[in-house]
Amino acid sequence: SIDFSSLTKQTGLTGLDYGFVNTSATRSAITYIDGDAGILRYRGYPIEQVAENSTFLEVAWLLIHGELPTPAELAEFDERIRRHTLLHEDLRRFFSALPHDAHPMSVLSSAVSALSTFYQDSLSVHDPEQIELSTIRLLAKLPVIAAYAHKKSLGQAFLYPDNSLSFVDNFLRLNFGTMAEPYEVNPVLSKALERLLILHEDHEQNASTSTVRLVGSTQANLFASVSAGINALYGPLHGGANEAVLDMLAGIRDSGESVQKFVERVKNKEEGVKLMGFGHRVYKNFDPRARLVKQSADEVLAALGVHDPLLDIAKELEEVALADQYFIDRKLYPNVDFYTGVIYKAMGFPTRMFTVLFAIGRLPGWIAHWREMNTDPATKIGRPQQLYIGSDERSWPTSR
Ligand code: ACO
Repeated sequence: SIDFSSLTKQTGLTGLDYGFVNTSATRSAITYIDGDAGILRYRGYPIEQVAENSTFLEVAWLLIHGELPTPAELAEFDERIRRHTLLHEDLRRFFSALPHDAHPMSVLSSAVSALSTFYQDSLSVHDPEQIELSTIRLLAKLPVIAAYAHKKSLGQAFLYPDNSLSFVDNFLRLNFGTMAEPYEVNPVLSKALERLLILHEDHEQNASTSTVRLVGSTQANLFASVSAGINALYGPLHGGANEAVLDMLAGIRDSGESVQKFVERVKNKEEGVKLMGFGHRVYKNFDPRARLVKQSADEVLAALGVHDPLLDIAKELEEVALADQYFIDRKLYPNVDFYTGVIYKAMGFPTRMFTVLFAIGRLPGWIAHWREMNTDPATKIGRPQQLYIGSDERSWPTSR
């Protein structure tokens, strides 16, 4: 690979690279992907092993600090996060100012942005202790904010976090518990959600992580940078795809259209018709996360006793697409989003919460990248070049 930063200085040459397909914007030691071989590793550990053996917070520590935590480190990390779950009462009231039918991703990014106003004591980008405090606050509060966004959309009262519960169980209770009766966490649901969150924890320089880095490169604080990342994730070509997949599957079911016919419309590139949950900028063979999620989909639906015809449609779509020359030629395979929605739906989450769940999963990755960027002496403010294609110099008309 070519180091353009010095080449540009020496020669004045710059490249035009829409979508940064060929340009590395940074070096990073966090996540390794080999898109052709379908390999994903967090800090060197294969995703299949990580998903099997870890907890969400253990992986968060690994991504942020580079090594697995000792039992004492993990216990302290977990304990600190539990102690920071409460939202300031004014921040709880902040939700009432927003429309009840607002998309929860907009609510999430707004509330995370507002953390900068409530926690002004941890905004430093230079003091490691304050950065650690912001890290803990974000990890502790994002699930609570997410659950309140959900509760608000239902018109239900917010519960206070129960800090005797684990990270995932607390989140489930905040979403599905009510004031009226005690909430029993279903261990099948808890385990499945933890696994899905782990699979989303990092994915190197995707659009939202690159956004966090770009915003962070201006020395914007962690809350501001992560809020920008949430907005980048919202789009249907990125995290919003899990919601779009379910809408697509439901659309096929409701219209009575055959899967074959739908695939034909995708291939004919009818406006707005894409096979959502298929294709990936990096994976041109298979997405290893998609394999793990597909396996979970069968297990979770069986364990919860749910039969969802949308899962049958998804499987048929996958089968038809994988055998079709259009998808073979373009190396299009199911990505992580293809089966997640079916599982989230079986868990009881409304479609609009799916991307919010992705955001909770991705948070440790965003934090790890922000912190890596912030401590890398080579970091510069992000400032892409452009190729100007506008008018040559011309005179402002005098008779206007
Ligand atoms: N359905 C139909 N055709 C597709 C799809 C798809 N899902 N994805 C790509 N293609 C086609 C394109 O039309 C293009 O065809 P052409 O060569 O005839 O013009 C070719 O495959 C190459 O696609 P690009 O858009 O150049 O691929 P790129 O790497 O830029 O895009 C992306 C990757 C955005 C993920 C794309 O595959 C897509 O839109 N997929 C659907 C949305 C989705 O699932 N996003 C989630 C991504 S994973 C994540 O963020 C967690």
